[in-house]
Amino acid sequence: MNAANAAQAAYIVAALLFILALAGLSKHETSRSGIVFGISGMVIALAATIGLATRSITAGGVALLVIAMVIGAVIGLWRARVVEMTGMPELIAMLHSFVGLAAVLVGWDGYYEVEAKGGAGFPGSLLRIHHAEVFIGVFIGAVTFTGSVVAFLKLSARIKSAPLTLPGKNVINLGSLVVFAGLTVAFVIHPNLGLLIAMTLVALLLGVHLVASIGGGDMPVVVSMLNSYSGWAAAASGFLLDNNLLIVTGALVGSSGAYLSYIMCQAMNRSFISVIAGGFGIVASGADDTDYGDYREINAQDTADLLKDASSVIITPGYGMAVAQAQYPVADLTRKLRERGVEVRFGIHPVAGRLPGHMNVLLAEAKVPYDIVLEMDEINDDFEGTSVVLVIGANDTVNPAAAEDPSSPIAGMPVLRVWEAKSVIVFKRSMAAGYAGVQNPLFFRENAQMLFGDAKERVEDIIRAL
Ligand code: TAP
Repeated sequence: MNAANAAQAAYIVAALLFILALAGLSKHETSRSGIVFGISGMVIALAATIGLATRSITAGGVALLVIAMVIGAVIGLWRARVVEMTGMPELIAMLHSFVGLAAVLVGWDGYYEVEAKGGAGFPGSLLRIHHAEVFIGVFIGAVTFTGSVVAFLKLSARIKSAPLTLPGKNVINLGSLVVFAGLTVAFVIHPNLGLLIAMTLVALLLGVHLVASIGGGDMPVVVSMLNSYSGWAAAASGFLLDNNLLIVTGALVGSSGAYLSYIMCQAMNRSFISVIAGGFGIVASGADDTDYGDYREINAQDTADLLKDASSVIITPGYGMAVAQAQYPVADLTRKLRERGVEVRFGIHPVAGRLPGHMNVLLAEAKVPYDIVLEMDEINDDFEGTSVVLVIGANDTVNPAAAEDPSSPIAGMPVLRVWEAKSVIVFKRSMAAGYAGVQNPLFFRENAQMLFGDAKERVEDIIRAL
């Protein structure tokens, strides 16, 4: 077997390992093996690609490749070790921007290698396909690049997360697509640098506008959508570089990212098309000045007494549990209550926290048994008849306005119906709104009481009182 065939065989093995990784990562129990499959696939893919590359580049080129890989690996390891779970979405957004930038560079390189040399070395019949590949690859890459940079800036609060609402924003988006289509046709007929520069600028601006038009509440969908775009950008690069593994992997990332975005849109009752088209048709709603009455406060001792008498408890964690790192005392409290014979379960909203599966990861980290951690649909009918619900740092995901107030900005988003329980204790530090910036009428209900303070400290107080 020659080196090229060996590399193709290695690519097939790597592609299979990536598929197994995706399958493994879809369940808690198999997620570790999913990670191992993914790492093994990437090691094989890198080794085969480097092996192939070393046949056609000089020793100096190989040295540069190794230096670039070592620098990249050190930065990657460092970032992965220091990032907080709550900072994951912005890190992911930043990584997507690199994929987009790489696709732009690969596309431009393709232009200089082929089109700029009058199609040198390329069979005539395939030349037009190459022109289209360059254009499409650079377009998707440039949109992904600037879109991801804006998502990173919004998620890390470096710019405001409110949606940008330029007059005629839908015309801008659709118009950019029409301009792109026109430029593509012109480039395929008569490729030249001017058209490539014009299209790259249009795509860079479109990426900024698309993501800037999306409000903070829809950012999770945007990150997952950019994940999808980065996959398609990688697949486009695969066509240009004639690399089958890049095409397969790009398509896997592209389609799984698109599907994840679709599931998240359903979970948040958002129109998929509206979100990917940059907030197409979203009407900004006014501020909520409704008077919901007074709220009641409770302390840790009284909460402990309530829990002692409870027969069933459901804990609904949210972003605040992640901020407070309260998962360890929460796991401790769960153990203590179960030892006393109290039935304890967790209700997990699909977008609780700041990234898909955020709460599941934290609870697994604290060794909460999987079988008492239930998805929203599995537990929503059980709140009625539950003695106590502990809402730990969750807000939007337990907001009754989503179910009851059609004028609410989050109307229609499926939520955990915690208010149907006998008693609800809300752990948070103040009366501030949640991520969507919407007031939560739950806090003012007869059966709800606020336990103010850092969630970790308050749960530890309860454990002491028990
Ligand atoms: P949020 O609505 O974000 O509310 C979190 C609450 O935690 C806040 O009300 C905050 O109140 C409280 N909190 C913060 N730090 C705390 C601490 N140290 N101790 C106690 N409480 C603390 O949470 P959620 O219910 O999980 O909803 C998630 C939101 O994020 C949704 O709007 C969702 O659309 C969005 N989102 C989701 C994702 C994904 S994919 N999961 C990604 C991005 C955004 P205080 O400030 O008063 O303490």
